[in-house]
Amino acid sequence: MTNDPTPGACNLVIFGIAGDLARRKLLAALYHLDLENLLHPDTRILGLARSEMNDDDLRNMVMNSLVQFIGGDLNQETLRRLMRRMSYRSLEFKNTAHFKGLQEWFKDSNYRSIFYFATPAAVYADICAGLSHAGLIRSDSQVIMEKPIGDSLKSSKLVNDLVGSRFSEEQIYRIDHYLGKETVLNLLVLRFANSLFTSNWDYTCIDHIQITVAESVGLEHRWNFYDKAGQLRDMVQNHLLQILCLLAMEPPADLSPDSIRTEKLKVLKALRPITKENLGKNVVRGQYVDGFVKGAPVPAYINEEGANPRSTTETYVAIKAEIDNWRWSGVPFYLRTGKRLAMKHSEINIHFKAQPHNIFRNSFPDLPPNMLTIRLQPDEGIELQMMNKVPGITEIGQITRNHLDLSFSESYNSSRIVDAYERLLLEAMQQNQSWFVRRDEVEQAWIWIDDIIRAWERSGVRPDPYPAGSWGPTSAIALIARDGRHWDE
Ligand code: BG6
Repeated sequence: MTNDPTPGACNLVIFGIAGDLARRKLLAALYHLDLENLLHPDTRILGLARSEMNDDDLRNMVMNSLVQFIGGDLNQETLRRLMRRMSYRSLEFKNTAHFKGLQEWFKDSNYRSIFYFATPAAVYADICAGLSHAGLIRSDSQVIMEKPIGDSLKSSKLVNDLVGSRFSEEQIYRIDHYLGKETVLNLLVLRFANSLFTSNWDYTCIDHIQITVAESVGLEHRWNFYDKAGQLRDMVQNHLLQILCLLAMEPPADLSPDSIRTEKLKVLKALRPITKENLGKNVVRGQYVDGFVKGAPVPAYINEEGANPRSTTETYVAIKAEIDNWRWSGVPFYLRTGKRLAMKHSEINIHFKAQPHNIFRNSFPDLPPNMLTIRLQPDEGIELQMMNKVPGITEIGQITRNHLDLSFSESYNSSRIVDAYERLLLEAMQQNQSWFVRRDEVEQAWIWIDDIIRAWERSGVRPDPYPAGSWGPTSAIALIARDGRHWDE
């Protein structure tokens, strides 16, 4: 990679341009990249979908999406530039002849292609076959794939084999959009650019770690898709495990893709398997029932629009994960994530161990251990809770708990946090795979998740109810309370 952040020119081809992901995320990301002059002047964008549209319809759709998801205050010069880059072709993914029709668009420029699969994984096979049949795959082509990659180890292997039969691993960019979030990327800087944390980051100093990814939203018209997955597959298999890996991995030798990804893989391999025997102590499944979110009534999961009233899919999961290696021996990682919780709030809490002896016991009998909080979203920042003397001419033993707070928005005076998709599109255009997931990571994560699903099936565990708008089922409180700890609220 050069120091020039603007990547070389490419032909970006987005399959599923009219879909939710493209409209909500990719178009806004491209607009912002163009605004920051991070798209090469010769980069072109081809949108593909089944709908019959022409280039003008596409441009209208792009415009409406940008207004809806960014707002009306758009830079006109950037818009004109972005629109000039864009074309549309309607395409039946199963119809290989349609792919031949794309050759003409490619003939106009010889730049490398990036194929973005913003479609359900079920059509990846057809897309790969069509591209190959039309001779559109070159050795410098890249493919960006969205999750979910399968719903088990077996099915993820099928998807990976299939795409792998047309593209080499170096050409495949598997997206986990959490790896594009500022605060998630900052975990690496926090851990490996600060000697304070580098030397205190193991079982000798850390008592336990909590990772919370709470959402207040429900399923928003994707009940059927979600019901086949559930929160374990939808959020833990990818986002939460990736966060856990970045927190737990050994220092990589450098920032190269394989250095980072090999260290993450070692963490996944060291995760203690969850079986039918230890399931009850380590995992809680929940499903929301009627409740109130931000004061508004919300129906139960099984009463949502289009729902199957007998569904036992989980919308919440809490897990005590243990990593069987030298660094993390005896340090539990408590993970929890759910839909329709009290608020959208994601954070990591690192609980350090208590002082071995309390010399302030007369005034402060329970000296609280330090806690480092990494606020992932919203209000991104880092907070360190620590003890301080109360200033003044009081006796030295008058101490209080206080915190050092680094709020990103205040400290960096930035008007906006860069969206994950913007960063990941740029990284892909720069051909940097560091923040994309390697095949063996995806598969190793599935091995751990498959065990949990199998244990659920074998023990017939049904989800515990929790009211929408709460913090999850009471059994999740018990999960951590059994270890003499509690969730941070
Ligand atoms: C997606 C899940 O991967 O991440 C969604 O499929 C979830 O169910 C979303 O809502 C959460 O992403 P973010 O960036 O809003 O935390």
